[in-house]
Amino acid sequence: MLDDQNDHLLSAAIRHGGLSAGQIAQILEFRLLGNRQGFLLLKDLPIGEIPPTPPSRARLDKPDRRSEQMLLQATALLGEPIGYRQESDGSLVNNFFPQQAQARAATSDSFDTELELHTENAFHAVLPDYLALLCLRQDPAAEAITYIASVQRILEHLSHEEQAFFLCEPYNFLCDYGPRGKNQRIDIGRHQTVLYGDPDCPFLRLDPQFMLAASEPARARLEQLRAVAWQVAEPLRLRQGDLLLIDNRRTAHARSVFSANFDGRDRWMQRAFAVGSGHFLTERLGRRSRVFDLVTEL
Ligand SMILES: [Fe+2]
Repeated sequence: MLDDQNDHLLSAAIRHGGLSAGQIAQILEFRLLGNRQGFLLLKDLPIGEIPPTPPSRARLDKPDRRSEQMLLQATALLGEPIGYRQESDGSLVNNFFPQQAQARAATSDSFDTELELHTENAFHAVLPDYLALLCLRQDPAAEAITYIASVQRILEHLSHEEQAFFLCEPYNFLCDYGPRGKNQRIDIGRHQTVLYGDPDCPFLRLDPQFMLAASEPARARLEQLRAVAWQVAEPLRLRQGDLLLIDNRRTAHARSVFSANFDGRDRWMQRAFAVGSGHFLTERLGRRSRVFDLVTEL
């Protein structure tokens, strides 16, 4: 049922997303050729009428769907849009805005807690290949900063020996999905290296707050890597109509703290995920869906 609704939504987004031919070319070039920074930022996109930022998810009411359609059109150019059961109950578009109840929680709905550098869902066997973040409203004080550290920039600061270490040393990536919601620390036995794929041009997965090292030297090396990632992280202040496309296999991202007033003018973001090969996932899982539960092995 959810997949039927999603297919309908996607069909409308592809036809009415509103991206120009030039923007579509930029997104396809990013997907096929990549770049050193690991992200693409498109600015001043048409997002339609944005109502006051709601105070809670229950009060979320957004009749104008132009931002969702544009976000999903861009996401579909990067791969197959997917959702996770544990994120907005599987919706292809996730909304984030400050909620008083989420203060001091390290989740995307928080605002007064910094989100540490992380690869999205690094513990998940079906991690997104790309994420798309669309800014519907910047925070009034313009304090919120999104940071992106790319593997290419990180590698420039690592010796061959250090790169070889991170290609071989498994870390235990803890799952942050649990029966009581997000931001748990559950051991699902997901032991993975930080660098993987082609050793000459590796992918990166990094989520220091949710990684356990097998030894003290491995812990110290991870701490050094975290420092390097912060050193090369690029700061971005997203403004209304900015669309940030992130290569999730080649970057880690973070978000600063910012203020919220709960007066309808707070920061409001929309997010979507894409995977590159839906057919491959269907083959491995024996089931076709755009919405995934926790997958620990493919
Ligand atoms: Fe994230």
